Amino acid sequence: MAAALTLLVSVATVSGAGGAIIKEKQKDIVNVAHRGASGYAPEHTLVSYELGEKLKGDYIEIDLQMTKDGQLIAMHDETLDRTTNGAGKVKDVTLAEIKQLDAGSWFNKAYPQYAKSSYKGLTVPTLEEIFQKFGQSKRYYIETKSPKVYPGMEEKLVYLIEKYGIDKRKLFVQSFSAESLSNMHELDPSLRLIQLLWYTTNADITDEEIADIQEYAIGIGPNYTFINKKYVEKITNSGLQIHPYTVNDKKTMKMLMDWGVTGMFTNFPDVLYEVKNGK
Ligand code: G3P
Ligand code: CA
Repeated sequence: MAAALTLLVSVATVSGAGGAIIKEKQKDIVNVAHRGASGYAPEHTLVSYELGEKLKGDYIEIDLQMTKDGQLIAMHDETLDRTTNGAGKVKDVTLAEIKQLDAGSWFNKAYPQYAKSSYKGLTVPTLEEIFQKFGQSKRYYIETKSPKVYPGMEEKLVYLIEKYGIDKRKLFVQSFSAESLSNMHELDPSLRLIQLLWYTTNADITDEEIADIQEYAIGIGPNYTFINKKYVEKITNSGLQIHPYTVNDKKTMKMLMDWGVTGMFTNFPDVLYEVKNGK
């Protein structure tokens, strides 16, 4: 009887300790402020990035496009239409022209519950301006968007990382393009690269696909919609990190954390911060 009791107590203790370790690990998961705190402020503006920092995002996520005169700017779309009062393709417009545009008013119309008069007239930042504002030690999570449209964007990105002395231990570079990431890896093997993936049906990944990704990247970023626990475990058991996107509700955040993801992208970094801390 005494022995059985001792066993019960020790199992409870181990399980309690194990639970505590898991909870501690969950606190370490990477909280990526997707396009800044873009649930609350116009995406890819300095204000959105500042808010991402203030609301406890660990990283600010930056999508890159390149202007006609070869400047890397922060914008999600290849065109100006959705997030500015301009129109047309970024690649056909100079930086000076883009700087004339209002990158904030669209947000006030689209999200009146979060509208602020100060958002009106915000401008599109260059990557250089972002590095100048947030400095060498900020945690950046940068995506090469449409690399086929912008030949040479990887070289420019590596040049700016070096020019501003960005701490590469605090930097992730991500892309849907394996070619762009392989190019980045060749340019600078010390960069931490994340292969983005887009699933339209139940996610599956072979050992061969994992091995291919491991040639250049240290992790993957899938849309969360079609992944499951088994998928997450296969990725983490391989040693790759897994940062699903874009997760905006507590229930899904909790589920993904229970499955063992090592980070996630969210438009609401304050919400993920709460979940990470058991709230
Ligand atoms: O980078 C993760 C996620 O941002 C990819 O999707 O379209 O928001 O850039 P998107
Ligand atoms: Ca992105």
